[in-house]
Amino acid sequence: MNKKFPIGVFDSGIGGLTILKELRKQMPEYDFVYLGDNARAPYGTRSYDTVYRYTLQCVQWFFVQGCELVVLACNTASAKALKTIQQHDLPKMGMGKRVLGVLRPTTETIGDYSKTGHIGILATNGTVNSDSYVTEIKRFFPDMKVVQHACPMWVPLVENREHLNDGADYFVQKDVEALLKSDPKIDTLLLGCTHYPLLEQKIRKFVPEHIQIVSQGAIVADKLQDYLSRHKEMEKHISKKGTCRFFTTDSSTEFDAHADIFFDEKVKSEHIELGM
Ligand code: DGL
Repeated sequence: MNKKFPIGVFDSGIGGLTILKELRKQMPEYDFVYLGDNARAPYGTRSYDTVYRYTLQCVQWFFVQGCELVVLACNTASAKALKTIQQHDLPKMGMGKRVLGVLRPTTETIGDYSKTGHIGILATNGTVNSDSYVTEIKRFFPDMKVVQHACPMWVPLVENREHLNDGADYFVQKDVEALLKSDPKIDTLLLGCTHYPLLEQKIRKFVPEHIQIVSQGAIVADKLQDYLSRHKEMEKHISKKGTCRFFTTDSSTEFDAHADIFFDEKVKSEHIELGM
């Protein structure tokens, strides 16, 4: 591995820009390449096999571009595809390539936020059904009580720019109350989906003051820096000109038009074909 490469950031669509925003904020010197599989989003309702196949195809695209380190910013892909890719596919893809997700950094940290030892997870159907958050949190914090609730309407609310309107209150209140009812001792609420940070203001309306709402972006950025500080052989090969390129499997015009609610900068994306 002699050439320098940017860090790959993958999401099912556009929501992963909330994670990339934090990576750029904390790691401005690094180069990033973002791919949104918008043509096949959302992933949150898809089967294991489908999420795995789509994610693997996108990871392979990053490797063809020369990226040796790929971060799955998508919770659903991290929950349903990452382990198989790491254990089954990466060993066949040549030395030095790494794929990381958002689940591990979050689950090894989230227990530190809670005083009561009771955590609530809000995520897509796919992430909740995988049980990955519950299993992984228990690994790092065995005494932690974890409950989860799927919010299938929240991604469409954000994607249709309805997340700040009054109509969104109905769904947010319904889902938040269902979660809190299942364990009244929750004091930490994890937003386990790329889109949910955009609903934080709304969620706050229905969550008692003493409960902390935790988004993943800053945690993922902290942990990635920590990872790179421990893997110097990888770190020294990452290019550092502070650039960011964007790719989408669907319309780049659509991508650029919707990016603004997830990302602070104006975005100019390029369309790619994955030969689906
Ligand atoms: N990016 C997905 C996640 O974080 C949400 C959107 C989707 O369902 O594709 O789970």
